[in-house]
Amino acid sequence: MKSLKEHFFKRLLDNASDLIWAIDMEGRFLYINDNIKGWGYEKDELIGKPLLSILNTTRIGKRQSQPSELGIERSVEMEIVDKLGRIHMVIVSSSPLPDNDGSIVGVMGIIRDVTKIQELEEKLRNEERLASLGRLASGVAHEIRNPLSSIKMNLAILMERLTPKDDDHEHFLIARKEVANLERVLNELLDYAKPSPLELRLQNPHKMIEDAVAAILPSYNERKVNLKISLPENLPMILLDTGKVHQALLNLLINALHASSDNGTVEIKAEVANTSEKLFRIFITDYGVGIRPEDLKYIYDPFFTSKQEGTGLGLSIVHNIMKKHGGEVRMESKKNEGTVACLEFSAS
Ligand SMILES: Nc1ncnc2c1ncn2[C@@H]1O[C@H](COP(=O)(O)OP(=O)(O)OP(=O)(O)O)[C@@H](O)[C@H]1O
Ligand SMILES: [Mg+2]
Repeated sequence: MKSLKEHFFKRLLDNASDLIWAIDMEGRFLYINDNIKGWGYEKDELIGKPLLSILNTTRIGKRQSQPSELGIERSVEMEIVDKLGRIHMVIVSSSPLPDNDGSIVGVMGIIRDVTKIQELEEKLRNEERLASLGRLASGVAHEIRNPLSSIKMNLAILMERLTPKDDDHEHFLIARKEVANLERVLNELLDYAKPSPLELRLQNPHKMIEDAVAAILPSYNERKVNLKISLPENLPMILLDTGKVHQALLNLLINALHASSDNGTVEIKAEVANTSEKLFRIFITDYGVGIRPEDLKYIYDPFFTSKQEGTGLGLSIVHNIMKKHGGEVRMESKKNEGTVACLEFSAS
């Protein structure tokens, strides 16, 4: 009977989602559950070693102590580096470990890994922030739209009435071009803030990529940037909104062109990956200026741009489009070496 009970408790401890440990009065491990394997350690290698040998902390946060029947219970937030060098955000709680007769023989406790929870919370906060930024931007865009069309109309009337010559004509043309620029930004902004619902259709990825290439090719030719396309045959049909994915491809191809030097090369590749679900990925690779590591986390934020003429909406629109499709966009980049943008769809 005892062994059944022991077996039961052992299973219970090893299957717990937290790290459970006990140390003696010298701070050496008496017990640690199986979860420690996820940190790159073997259970046996730690028994008898000091707890501090795994608590390789980088930062200590909030601490709490409260008296209990047997002594003091504590909980501390820490960042710990595991054996594989990964950082875990954890909450370590501990309480005195009593013997059968009630005398204290060590400390036992739980280490709860909250890294994922914190990442999720951060992502949620970020999305809320972006959503309110989007609402603000669309409000401003609506306010600007009417005066802007009035400026455009009056410019056209004045140009026709005054028939300006030479320099004056040039000034009118500049004003008209800038109005057109403002209109483009406004439309991007409205599209970002209030995207229209998806119109899903089964689409052949070859055609979708060819259409995007055909639309962008003149700009590539102008800069003599070579666009290489290599697609596997028999790509699956994918359910998507052609217009929106076309827009996403163009935004990525324009970024790749901007990043490349004249005579550079940009590649488009695609693959079908069979994991638990069938994934279809398009890669757009450039060998241009690259993105600084510290900028990578901001590139999907609306208005984040490193370009003089940029609006900083391109990638945020791509991000929204992919999210609506239940897919995602990922960018990997090395400064001065280049960038790979990946659009991932789940192929049905
Ligand atoms: N392929 C790339 N190579 C290097 N940097 C890139 C690349 N793609 C994006 N970036 C960086 O990310 C920033 C944001 O890109 P995003 O497309 O959102 O805006 P933008 O290109 O600056 O302006 P626009 O609204 O006209 O697209 C860019 O300003 C640039 O710094
Ligand atoms: Mg862009």
